[in-house]
Amino acid sequence: MSAQAPTIIVALDLADAGAARDLVTQLPPSGCRLKVGKELFLAGGPALVSEWVEQGWQVFLDLKFHDIPNTVAAACTQAAELGVWMVNVHALGGSAMLRAAREAVDRHPAPPLLTGVTVLTSHDETTLAEIGLTGPPEAAVMRLASLAYGAGLDGVVCSAAEASLIHERLGHGFRRVTPGIRSPQDAADDQRRVMTPGRAIQAGASDLVVGRPITNAADPAEALARLRESVASVIG
Ligand code: C5P
Repeated sequence: MSAQAPTIIVALDLADAGAARDLVTQLPPSGCRLKVGKELFLAGGPALVSEWVEQGWQVFLDLKFHDIPNTVAAACTQAAELGVWMVNVHALGGSAMLRAAREAVDRHPAPPLLTGVTVLTSHDETTLAEIGLTGPPEAAVMRLASLAYGAGLDGVVCSAAEASLIHERLGHGFRRVTPGIRSPQDAADDQRRVMTPGRAIQAGASDLVVGRPITNAADPAEALARLRESVASVIG
């Protein structure tokens, strides 16, 4: 498989909007995109997201909506209003919810990309069985990825280990957004199944989500530059 340059998405998992602003001023907008999850969104509010969008940043609003179709559609409309680049929902919400999200996003003049979370990487076979999803996690991931694909979503958030099967079955145009990326010198933190950027790209990741190796670095810009170099060495 010839590897293509992935986007690099910096996960801003910070509780303080001021600290997040300071960090972002150190990063080059041409070299990465930003991911805002629940913690920072609750700390900084929609205004923080709008501020970065106005500065030209491409923002992935990672709020993983999961509710009745009408509510999720309305939330997606609000996300689109903020001008974000990508928004996501839980594929576990089912096809009616996924289609409602798709339709809401498509009604917007500048629709963000819409991705679906399959199975959280914090789950294993035992914890999936607790919620009634029996069998190997990969089977649940593929079922949910296919549901997201069928509803017209632009891709899924999945572990790099699952990216190659999703790529193979659902094609190149369906994005594989992969967290759990660690270079050999990085701490794994609480991630269990990590992959180097190079291996993740070769496995078919289209977007690499990297948080603490950049946000906790003494020099975040330098950590990002090193990551970009290792990506470039794989792309050739
Ligand atoms: O700091 P780290 O690189 O581990 O951050 C990974 C980011 O990706 C976090 O924001 C985490 O919430 C998110 N994520 C994940 N696993 C998933 C889905 C999202 O680690 N399955």
